[in-house]
Amino acid sequence: MDDVEKLKVALDQPIVMVGMMGVGKSRIGQALASALDLPFYDSDKIIEEKAGRPIPDVFIAFGEEKFRRAEQNTIIELLEQKSPCVIATGGGALTSPVTLEAIKEQGISVWLQADLDTTMKRLAGNANRPLLQTEDPRATVKALMEARQALYAQATLHVQTDEHSTQVTIDNLIKTLCFRVIPGSV
Ligand code: S3P
Repeated sequence: MDDVEKLKVALDQPIVMVGMMGVGKSRIGQALASALDLPFYDSDKIIEEKAGRPIPDVFIAFGEEKFRRAEQNTIIELLEQKSPCVIATGGGALTSPVTLEAIKEQGISVWLQADLDTTMKRLAGNANRPLLQTEDPRATVKALMEARQALYAQATLHVQTDEHSTQVTIDNLIKTLCFRVIPGSV
């Protein structure tokens, strides 16, 4: 059996993608779910579907606090299914202590890491992040990264994405997951 087949058999928890906006949680999460034949959920998408409007409009209509409550409820509901799947969270999800604890207890979390330059390149031209509608988005991203570093660092696995294609990141992630999930795996 290869790594993917072994993982499919051994995995009994959700895999939860965490990290800064723009790092690729949805793109990489979706690709990982396809590779492992698992359902994929994106908490931002679920909130958008429930609210019937895109995230920037959710912030305008309801404010960040209500968005955070919806984000927490959405992630907790997904975790409560207790079956293997891949969940992409929003970049601020771990600022909720309830969400952080639930993910630590019920999921295998993956911190997708990228440095500030890579993050800014990936965010370029995208107006979908309400928190970045500031005079100096780079300074805002830097400040959010610093403030959230200690939260992301609590993730089970840390995977560097700088310079890597989606496929290389997925291959690295699958190896790291095997090492974690399958006893005796090298
Ligand atoms: C946010 C990140 C966004 C989205 C919202 C708030 C954040 O998700 O949830 O704009 O606080 O970092 P992505 O990380 O998918 O961009």
